[in-house]
Amino acid sequence: MDMWEDSLGGDIREVLFTREKIQEKVDEIGEEIRRDYQGRRVLLVGILNGCFPFMADLARAIRGPMEVDFMSVSSYGGGTQSSGVVRLLKDLNSSIEGRDVLLVEDIIDSGLTARYLMDNLRTRHPASLEVCSLLDKTDARAEEVSIRYVGFKCPLEFVVGYGLDYDGLYRNLPYIGVLKEGVYSRK
Ligand code: IMP
Ligand code: MG
Repeated sequence: MDMWEDSLGGDIREVLFTREKIQEKVDEIGEEIRRDYQGRRVLLVGILNGCFPFMADLARAIRGPMEVDFMSVSSYGGGTQSSGVVRLLKDLNSSIEGRDVLLVEDIIDSGLTARYLMDNLRTRHPASLEVCSLLDKTDARAEEVSIRYVGFKCPLEFVVGYGLDYDGLYRNLPYIGVLKEGVYSRK
């Protein structure tokens, strides 16, 4: 296992999804997207900051025409609980009118962020609008969200790595895991 025992990896209690498992799944989703959007130019809309490793790998796994744009929202503050408040921090660079838009998220937890984003993007009249999320914490759902492409179902645990953070840290871990108990109090 490629744990970074000496530094960040030492804070991880359990690895849920290894780098290899993630890469395999991302390649599968990329191929599915290419097939589904054949003859069209899909616009991946990544939700910063959490999406960046997934977005980069997914983009390269789609062996066909695609473009990217990004948005940034705040929903969590620095903690592990959803605040329920979603604020738009950075909007898209371009119009999505008539475009085939695919929202790319690291994780869908309560669904509040995705709900807000879908409602917001729909008012801009895209030709189509779907969601792709690497992780789906189904059991935490407060708002119903229909996810077209899902990587893995995620247990009801706070997870970090591969874009997911705790207090801004751990996004650069190449795998996804659960933090050790003591880590939260060290903040
Ligand atoms: P939601 O609005 O509750 O669905 O939360 C969406 C956002 O919360 C995600 O894009 C993540 O940034 C963050 N989040 C939710 N669950 C986790 C987790 O287990 N680890 C890290 N971030 C999380
Ligand atoms: Mg996020």
